Amino acid sequence: MRNETVLVVDDVPEIRTTMSEILKYKGFAVDQATDGQEAIDLLSGRFYDIVLTDIAMPRKDGMEVLQYIKSNTPDTICIMITGFGSIEGAVEALRLGAFDYLSKPIKPSEVVVVIEKALDVRDLKRENLSLKEELQGRYSFDRIVGQSQSIKRIFNLVEKVAHTDSTVLITGESGTGKELIAHAIHYSSGRKARPFVPINCAAIPEELLESELFGHEKGAFTHAIRTRIGRFELANKGTIFLDEIGEMSPSLQVKLLRVLQERCFERVGGVKTINVDIRVVAATNIDLEEAVQKGRFREDLFYRLNVIPIQLPPLRERKGDIPLLVEHFLQKFSRGNPSYANAIDEEALKILEAYDWPGNVRELENIVERLVILANEPVITITDIPERIVSRSGSIPLVIKSEPAAVLPEDGMSLSAAVEQFEKTLILQALDRTNGVKNRAAKLLKMNRTTLIEKMKKMKMMKPRAARKPAKDKKSGGAAA
Ligand SMILES: Nc1ncnc2c1ncn2[C@@H]1O[C@H](COP(=O)(O)OP(=O)(O)OP(=O)(O)O)[C@@H](O)[C@H]1O
Ligand SMILES: [Mg+2]
Repeated sequence: MRNETVLVVDDVPEIRTTMSEILKYKGFAVDQATDGQEAIDLLSGRFYDIVLTDIAMPRKDGMEVLQYIKSNTPDTICIMITGFGSIEGAVEALRLGAFDYLSKPIKPSEVVVVIEKALDVRDLKRENLSLKEELQGRYSFDRIVGQSQSIKRIFNLVEKVAHTDSTVLITGESGTGKELIAHAIHYSSGRKARPFVPINCAAIPEELLESELFGHEKGAFTHAIRTRIGRFELANKGTIFLDEIGEMSPSLQVKLLRVLQERCFERVGGVKTINVDIRVVAATNIDLEEAVQKGRFREDLFYRLNVIPIQLPPLRERKGDIPLLVEHFLQKFSRGNPSYANAIDEEALKILEAYDWPGNVRELENIVERLVILANEPVITITDIPERIVSRSGSIPLVIKSEPAAVLPEDGMSLSAAVEQFEKTLILQALDRTNGVKNRAAKLLKMNRTTLIEKMKKMKMMKPRAARKPAKDKKSGGAAA
């Protein structure tokens, strides 16, 4: 059984039935229409992959069917059937966008060949985009830079799992390279010549996400003026990348679970079950296990997704990769521009290595891009680096500023009060930078969370304050100010 549906349109009953029988035998789902008007009525109600239509027919002819298809359901492939000697009609039909034509008398084998060719061309077109990306090498594996132990472990894992069809769940903070890894999995897999279809579940409003994922039939809702194919269908034989999966609504989580279990679904407003052969890679920067515990994410879906977990470490935990990444981005952004900086001196590189990169590789990439363009000399030095980064790169200010970090007043001062003030300033900065999330603030300050909380209590910094996102992260309430 195949997924594709075919509509056969001809006013001659024998031709209609013969073609329908052949196509049914080949596994297609086939409907018939006796003329153009009936065909248009059927087309307005459901989606057909292919329409085989006679040109000369009563009421509405094949050209009108073709025109209807082009303006209402452009994903449908239209193949014309022409009578003896009406080649002009066929040529005109090709000009209007018909895929091909068959001349009467029609040989059964010819019908099948043309249909299969049409489906191949359609699949090729769908793959074309992702192939182009691959050719440009934008997402190939060797574009992922890193030699730290943790990133090497990830490369090994990617190589091992790429050739399987197992579902992969990539987790990690924002900017750690989750999307890059998803691409690498696809382009190292046997599916690499087929589409890689990403969808960001957080960027699309909930009401639209369902039809974006599963497609919809014409008339399924007010603005569904034509049948549309969803991302799962587009990804057939390839990989679908469900980015920011943690943001998916509970009702869609149920529907996704079914696709993962059965590899089938229906378009919104449709009744036909569509089977797909897809590899699923999902990513999130939230803690899904915690979301499960809090009842925000379905446990069964979590286990279906978490078959192969890949956890990307934040950049601050693999600082050894910073010089390599800096070099990679220097080359990337200066290429072809002799007036741009293309190197960095040791002192400036040390500053970049000391900084904690809360925005991870993306933040580093953005900074290097800016430095390459704005530096005054071919070699980037410490004076080019934004103050924000210099001042936050730990002990570095003492190295670059000649003044002492603090000055003892003439009449002396309380050392413990000064130390407390110093601690308080740094804690406030850490909380500010992590939007009040104590766990992350504690990490920045290289202490554990309980020690941080104790200090905050002692310094009376625990004034309760409305959380930034109360519904999402209860822990983030507290002393961010
Ligand atoms: N190891 C790496 N080598 C080279 N470039 C990298 C590496 N990791 C990340 N990048 C680059 O950093 C940027 C951010 O990566 P990516 O978009 O994959 O992150 P992400 O984890 O998906 O982030 P978010 O959660 O915000 O979507 C991209 O431009 C990517 O090319
Ligand atoms: Mg991403």
